[in-house]
Amino acid sequence: MTKRVALITGGTGGIGTAVCQELCGQDQLVVAGFLPSESEQAETWRGTMRSKGHAVEIVSGDVSNFDSSRSMVREVETKHGPIEILVNCAGITRDKTLRKMSPDDWQAVIDTNLNGVFNVTRNVVDGMIESGYGRVVNISSVNGQKGQFGQTNYSAAKAGVHGFTMALAQELANKGVTVNTISPGYVDTPMTDVIPEDIKNQIVGAIPIGDVADPSDIARAVGFFCQEQAAYITGANLPVNGGLYMS
Ligand code: CAA
Repeated sequence: MTKRVALITGGTGGIGTAVCQELCGQDQLVVAGFLPSESEQAETWRGTMRSKGHAVEIVSGDVSNFDSSRSMVREVETKHGPIEILVNCAGITRDKTLRKMSPDDWQAVIDTNLNGVFNVTRNVVDGMIESGYGRVVNISSVNGQKGQFGQTNYSAAKAGVHGFTMALAQELANKGVTVNTISPGYVDTPMTDVIPEDIKNQIVGAIPIGDVADPSDIARAVGFFCQEQAAYITGANLPVNGGLYMS
């Protein structure tokens, strides 16, 4: 099997780390993106991953900024070759009811979670078309499908990711490039750790499977879309939410 270069934005984060492990397991050349301000933590993360047998590389880039995203992509291409797998995993929350939400809370989440998908994919896509091969997997959310109290910004951005996926899938369908979405439910990561305990208990109580997901549950679904054999699946959304929402 060909070893393909895979860029995972937010690769050092909760879901991102599990995606990196999954794609290392598929024997891809895995590069994890991280925020420029977090380079020390990223170096430590790489050391830990390598000590566990995952031969990951790292690259810095701010996905909310187009020029920074372009530099990140060019650095990966120069060092490792054309990117053939892209997992858009970088994401943040700034949960507040709309009445309390500042323009900055709105903009920061849209810039990272939605504009970030554009900024990185736009810089990767020409290379995939040239290769005649590509796998783009966008991490959306159950809350982009059903909405969530306190997440107008996040739900709007994640819903936008669904539209982006379906539109781009049509543009690239005859070019060997698939574009799909995974919509995780609540996952055991630092992002959900900050939800107040009582609210988290309410949310978990509404999940038919009765618990949050492990990051590896999401990573396995991502890994499925990244395989060569998944060539006939494009524009799809795969919910991995324990039954929390069924559309
Ligand atoms: N539905 C209806 N009412 C709700 C509610 C809900 N789900 N949650 C809270 N309320 C009510 C409260 O009971 C309270 O009512 P009273 O004013 O009558 O007492 C009121 O709303 C609280 O309103 P506030 O404006 O004061 O809100 P707050 O500042 O106390 O907290 C919040 C708001 C921070 C958004 C908090 O509700 C929260 O953290 N919610 C969870 C949000 C969430 O699910 N985030 C997901 C993070 S993980 C992630 O995003 C990953 C992923 O993809 C799933």
